[in-house]
Amino acid sequence: MSTTPDASSYPLHVDEVELQRLRGQHEAWGDLASDLFARVPVRPGMRVLDLGCGPGFVTLELARRVGSQGQVVALDASPMWQAHLAQESQRLGITNIVPVQERFQAAEFAPQSFDYIYARWFWSFVPDPCREAARVARWLAPHGVIALQDYHHEGIALTPPSRGFVAVVRGLRAMYQQHGGDAFVAAKVPAMWAAAGLRALDYTPVVRAGGPTSAVFRWADSFFPRYAAKLRDGGWISADEWEEFVTDWSARRVDASALFWSPAVVTAVAVKDA
Ligand SMILES: C[S@@+](CC[C@H](N)C(=O)[O-])C[C@H]1O[C@@H](n2cnc3c(N)ncnc32)[C@H](O)[C@@H]1O
Repeated sequence: MSTTPDASSYPLHVDEVELQRLRGQHEAWGDLASDLFARVPVRPGMRVLDLGCGPGFVTLELARRVGSQGQVVALDASPMWQAHLAQESQRLGITNIVPVQERFQAAEFAPQSFDYIYARWFWSFVPDPCREAARVARWLAPHGVIALQDYHHEGIALTPPSRGFVAVVRGLRAMYQQHGGDAFVAAKVPAMWAAAGLRALDYTPVVRAGGPTSAVFRWADSFFPRYAAKLRDGGWISADEWEEFVTDWSARRVDASALFWSPAVVTAVAVKDA
């Protein structure tokens, strides 16, 4: 390991390439968010908090759903993502998003400020999620809903198999952990809800698999080659493992019989009883 990461720092890139990756990620998985907001409704007039909103692909949908009588507080520490969201809101004439550019750990809201608290691919970066869930639950109004969509990093695979890919996945999980996060955070959700005194409503894992032309493979293709290099540079995988990965990934990318299997993405929902 060449550097010791700050346990509370964000391990992924924040730049133009990452913006396009997050856009593609939203295209590949956004239906899960829309399904959730229809099933456990985000209603007009609601006060919503989007934790770790990133560039705001879901924030914009939440803002449309709550309408002019509602409000979405969009919390993210990244100035670049906040700037992107502000630009998009202006372009689309959306005026009910309140940006909060702050580290989550430093953020504080009055008790019962929100009817719905949502977070996608956020909790996996948060140290001590049980303690933090208890803090967040205080911001929920009675009967308020908290929902997350995040990883239980099992099931992820490439077929035909690749040792290089297995090494990259192992390195990725270690990188999350060294930055204080947990790529298996969805498995902690029952403990998070219990610590926060919340009642579980739903727990639904989804795994997607597809060949080189599928949306899920393209999503993986926007992530693994770039982050494999970061894992090599940071010492999470060796140069040999990286080379093996690059060779195999390049071959699978043009192999019509290859499949990428996603990790489980879990939608988990709880409610605050009055
Ligand atoms: C993988 S991105 C997901 C973004 C967005 N939720 C989405 O689904 O497109 C994770 C986001 O969480 C934010 N984040 C991570 N840790 C944070 C923290 N401690 N405080 C505030 N934002 C944080 C990052 O800046 C990043 O925008």
